[in-house]
Amino acid sequence: MKTFYIETFGCQMNAHDSEKVIGTLVSEGYSQVAEPEQADLILYNTCSIRDKAEQKVFHRLQQFKKGHGKGKVFGVLGCVAQQEGERIFERAPHVSLVAGSASYAKLPQMLVQLESGDRRVTGLSLDTEEAFDTPFTRRDNPHRAYITIIEGCDKSCAYCVVPFTRGPERSRTSASVLKEARELASMGYTEIQLLGQNVNSYRDPSPAAWDFARLLRAVGEVDGIRRVRFTTSHPRDFVKDIVDAIEENPVLCNHVHLPVQSGSTEVLRRMQRLYTRDDYLRRIAWMKAARRDISITTDIIVGFPGETEADFEQTLSLLDEVQYDSLFSFKYSRRPNTPALTLDDQIPEDEKSRRLTFLQEHQRAIQIRRNSGLVGTFDQAFVEGYNQATGQWIGRTTQNRTLNFIHPLQAGPKDGETLIGKYCNVRITRAGPNSLAGEAVDCV
Ligand code: SAH
Ligand code: SF4
Ligand code: F3S
Repeated sequence: MKTFYIETFGCQMNAHDSEKVIGTLVSEGYSQVAEPEQADLILYNTCSIRDKAEQKVFHRLQQFKKGHGKGKVFGVLGCVAQQEGERIFERAPHVSLVAGSASYAKLPQMLVQLESGDRRVTGLSLDTEEAFDTPFTRRDNPHRAYITIIEGCDKSCAYCVVPFTRGPERSRTSASVLKEARELASMGYTEIQLLGQNVNSYRDPSPAAWDFARLLRAVGEVDGIRRVRFTTSHPRDFVKDIVDAIEENPVLCNHVHLPVQSGSTEVLRRMQRLYTRDDYLRRIAWMKAARRDISITTDIIVGFPGETEADFEQTLSLLDEVQYDSLFSFKYSRRPNTPALTLDDQIPEDEKSRRLTFLQEHQRAIQIRRNSGLVGTFDQAFVEGYNQATGQWIGRTTQNRTLNFIHPLQAGPKDGETLIGKYCNVRITRAGPNSLAGEAVDCV
């Protein structure tokens, strides 16, 4: 039996790609093992969004250089593979497969080449029309499933490698998305997460020509599906109809991740984000005006070239104005091929670190305040796991908050009985900056 090990870095798109790669390998007669030492084929599905992420794969490959890697086949997949291409063979000569996400449909052929002893197999074409739409996907989680609706990105944000590593936008047909959603429902999945680097620019390639809001509504109607999430939204293409769709159907989770990157219109212009602070705030206003309480989260980059102290303060004031429920924040990292690479006025590393820490503390105070306001209320948690150490079930609310709770009758999984996969109504008794805690009232 041929064995493989895979480690995945990066975003949910990569996580889902790995699920498809695993399914494809298993269907080709490979079996997955938990440790690289046991594997014949070692794969890294990589991310290159920031320099640190890119370095990880080279560290991993280095670890095997000193002999442990003998007789094994190494493959680099994903965004670093697409970005670095054949240069990876120079940097890590023991690698024999380099393939980007647009080429995974050809994995079976590439495996045959590897098995016949080919030492340099590549899949780097970005102009492939074939979607990696495989029947073999091995989903990690038996209750929540990802569905890719659009691949690639047509924006050109000045700092970002994704348009180079994932190629141009390609949407799947609405019929194929709905077929997958129905199949997942019939297999017992109750939560679906629609994926794309910019789901808002989804455009059904079939004559129906559905836009994203239309697709979202239709997925929300699939029998058996109780929660639908989507990520990520680009503010420029985020239309009010999406908010209306969320208002109409409680199956569509009341959480929108709307990455802003900066609160300064001037920085947004230099980032080529295609919206101003006011444009962004208009979209926030649609959500705040909704009857449902829509949770809003975001991504921020600090220290983009030329970001002044006044620009940074604009970002802090945006956090106060929007009142995000959480955010991901990053120090600007210079990336190959991107327009911002050559910009003057790079911000020193220690100044970026100072801004990042300051921003995170500022946001932490906002989250403590917002979460404390929820103590005493009730919410529904979709149960994802159990924490042995604390004796709490781990759940998630429709607003995407972590809600850990105890159940008066079910202290933990026992005799095959578990709450995982169920929906529990929980009374919230405590709040921290990043999670809530409570006691279950009932579960279905
Ligand atoms: N398509 C998504 C973003 C995907 S990348 C969108 O447009 O919102 C996820 C996040 O990584 C981005 O939102 C951004 O905040 C961050 N990021 C991307 N490139 C970066 C870089 N060069 N340096 C630092 N952070 C970066
Ligand atoms: Fe990158 Fe911008 Fe595309 Fe998002 S929209 S993936 S940040 S280029
Ligand atoms: Fe990273 Fe590629 Fe995703 S660069 S964030 S794995 S699209």
